[in-house]
Amino acid sequence: MSEATVKATFDVYRFDPVRDAGPRYDRYVLDLPPHTPVLTALLQVRADLDPSLTLRYSCRSAICGSCAMQINSKSRLACEAPIGPELARDGRIVVEPMRNQPVLRDLVVDQEPFWREYRRIEPHLILDPRHPMPEGTANPMTPAEVDRFKETPRCIACAACYSACPAVEADPAFPGPMALAKLYRFVVDPRDQGQQDRLVKIQTDGLWLCLRCHLCTEACPKDVRPSERIRDLKELAIAAQGATEPGSRHALAFKENIRERGQLNEMKLARQTAGLPGLVTQVPQGIRIWRKKPELLHAPHPIEGADQVEKIYEALDDGKTKEDAP
Ligand code: FES
Repeated sequence: MSEATVKATFDVYRFDPVRDAGPRYDRYVLDLPPHTPVLTALLQVRADLDPSLTLRYSCRSAICGSCAMQINSKSRLACEAPIGPELARDGRIVVEPMRNQPVLRDLVVDQEPFWREYRRIEPHLILDPRHPMPEGTANPMTPAEVDRFKETPRCIACAACYSACPAVEADPAFPGPMALAKLYRFVVDPRDQGQQDRLVKIQTDGLWLCLRCHLCTEACPKDVRPSERIRDLKELAIAAQGATEPGSRHALAFKENIRERGQLNEMKLARQTAGLPGLVTQVPQGIRIWRKKPELLHAPHPIEGADQVEKIYEALDDGKTKEDAP
């Protein structure tokens, strides 16, 4: 008995920067079983319909990370994205190259910006010869020390997180989620002697540009959870150096503002973040806000039940989870 198939419509981004005036979308229609991965479908397009379609892949098993692309606007590994759910949700499959990296041709991007940030964090052990070998073992790390890496060793460097990241798009100084997750991995490695240097450097090297949108964690096919490791890095950086940067001062001021009154006091937040000299530079912006929305510059009215917020903070300080808090 032959396998049931569905009619699958693919709209595939095509662009050759050398020859084309601009990008276009070519439509291909195939009959395929619904479990067919998008990558297999694209390879069939190339074999049967259009040998000029350019894409990158290798393992076809979600290991090498080379087939990452935009599938119906989400950064995915094409070799593990079956067509059935995509068609059921959107009726067709739009395939595009990854974002935040220049297109070389069709679905292939130049990954140099992604790897440049990776190299910048020195992604290798700077071995500390003083790290003791646990007694009676040939392994230089204990299981508890390995656990501190969390999910970071799962990363296959597919750049799906980098493609999904609006902070990369907004500011090229942001190193990107993968580089920061890798940085975390070395910062918590007890064998590494570059930890402090790495932490100090990253404070002024884009750590605080993260927008906390968690789109990287949503996009990661290996559940590395980069946004959570970025949060951990911020905590480690403050613990190592104090709140020396506008980003860290803003994070602490935000926390204390909410603790005090259950809401933000924008004026106070700006002063605590930028300091008085910094506030002076923001005067023109303040005047614009005052003209359009003067209420934003007033001290907020006290809100009922604000004392409950303090109890949440106390519970969190006690190491309890939010769910345990009153
Ligand atoms: S081809 Fe290797 S991860 Fe998809």
